[in-house]
Amino acid sequence: MKSVSASDYTVAVIGAGAMGQGIAQVSAQGGMKTLLVDANAAVVDKARQSILGRINRLVEKGRVEPGAAAAAESNLHAVGNLADIAEADCVVEAVFEDLDVKRTLFREIEAVVRPDCIIASNTSSIPISSVAQACEHKGRVGGLHFFNPVPLMKLVEVIEAAETTPEVIAALTEIGKRMTRVPVTVKDMPGFLVNMGGRAFTSESLRIAHEGVATPTQVDAIMRDCCHFRMGPFELMDLTGIDVNYPVSGIIYRGYMDDPRIKTSPNHTAKFDAGQFGRKTGQGWYRYEDGKAVDVPSPDLVPDAAPATRVALMDEGDRLEAFVKELGLEVIEDDGTVPLIAAPIGTDATHLSVDAAVDPKRFVALDLMFDTTKRVTLMTAPGADFKYRDAVAAAVIASGRKVTAIKDSPGFVAQRMCAMIGNLGCYMAEVGLAAPDDIDLALELGLNYPHGPLKLINLMGVEEALEVLEELHEITAEDRYRPTMWLKRRALLELPIHTPS
Ligand code: NAI
Repeated sequence: MKSVSASDYTVAVIGAGAMGQGIAQVSAQGGMKTLLVDANAAVVDKARQSILGRINRLVEKGRVEPGAAAAAESNLHAVGNLADIAEADCVVEAVFEDLDVKRTLFREIEAVVRPDCIIASNTSSIPISSVAQACEHKGRVGGLHFFNPVPLMKLVEVIEAAETTPEVIAALTEIGKRMTRVPVTVKDMPGFLVNMGGRAFTSESLRIAHEGVATPTQVDAIMRDCCHFRMGPFELMDLTGIDVNYPVSGIIYRGYMDDPRIKTSPNHTAKFDAGQFGRKTGQGWYRYEDGKAVDVPSPDLVPDAAPATRVALMDEGDRLEAFVKELGLEVIEDDGTVPLIAAPIGTDATHLSVDAAVDPKRFVALDLMFDTTKRVTLMTAPGADFKYRDAVAAAVIASGRKVTAIKDSPGFVAQRMCAMIGNLGCYMAEVGLAAPDDIDLALELGLNYPHGPLKLINLMGVEEALEVLEELHEITAEDRYRPTMWLKRRALLELPIHTPS
């Protein structure tokens, strides 16, 4: 097998669509001779021109040196048909997402290239092992899964199928690096790493909205302001398109043997069935005009109440005491008239007030686990007297923050979402889908998460994250919330969450 660092290393990209063009661009810019082929011969020259146009625009913006652009141009070749790729050292396939099409093509590729030529697929959902079935030399087949738009998305998943040899994985990793990508090695499992890892963010948000705990706008605001996600899950679903994320959710869920952790909710099906796919149809979770969301309901509580000045605390955590002090509230013994407040972890207002035998009507729970400088989530039990909640909200608002008031929910919104994202990250580490650090890196680069899922567990505190899940599990009696053994063991042993098994 030729060394990937060789100056004449040659990559053939098959399929000159959206992905193939991006892959060919980074390959040519990475200094490799790049051959671009498509079944539709008419599109290849045009594709090459589009790629060169994009590189030239980067030159105009000062992001690429003119000399580097000229080198990329001379590296990039549009070729007429498959027979012209015989010299390739590596083939990257980016054709239609259809197993039969890919298998037929892989057979044709094998008939043309040398026996030591690597053949990789950019499929986003087809198991690499089942594509490799078509080949005589299965050990040379792997996955090289890029993200759209390729030149901007640094991550590439190197997929290790059942028979991919270690040499091929090492070479694909080097090829990814030569393309100036950040490669992570991933097992050939449904959705690979990023698409699987992203399930919790959408599926838990859908569940929260389905239960009526919070509206999509409220969930989005909490995830942006308190947890620093660039986009809320509903905004993200509208952007990627519910026509894409709904079927993908189903494929991955079934691929993981109907694991309830990643099960979607009926409100997702309803959006899909209604053809409300998001931005592309003008209506998804939000309504769009000229590409902008319109008539977005406010996520903020605007109470018509005087700010509380005195409260009674139901727990004595440092967070709550510091927060109350910051708001300038006087803390008194419960006299039967003041709001009773607490900052619970994992549990809900109902269970907390019943367990503590306090008046649920006056009880207000605050989520103080994440960033509270912009927004604070308040939660009450059914039957609560909103006058107490609104007085607490008014005091929080007077401190310059916004308030989102939700229905009762173990773990509010943010704790629940982050615990589920983190638990899924732990599951991926547990089953060896990828190395713990790579799981974080992939979700940071592939989905723009502010922190990878394991880092998110660290941020919550390993024991606190476990507590959130255990409370969710106990209160809901649903398998969906069962903590992973990875998380449990590290919490029990007081070990960092990234500790390998
Ligand atoms: P596309 O529809 O834009 O392009 C596919 C191209 O393949 C077309 O130009 C078509 O003429 C060509 N083609 C089809 N059959 C062929 C064959 N037998 N031989 C040669 N060329 C053939 O598709 P896109 O979006 O570029 O996707 C390509 C692959 O990349 C799919 O497997 C997809 O799942 C995967 N992918 C797509 C992502 C995306 O966001 N679009 C992200 C990551 C992976």
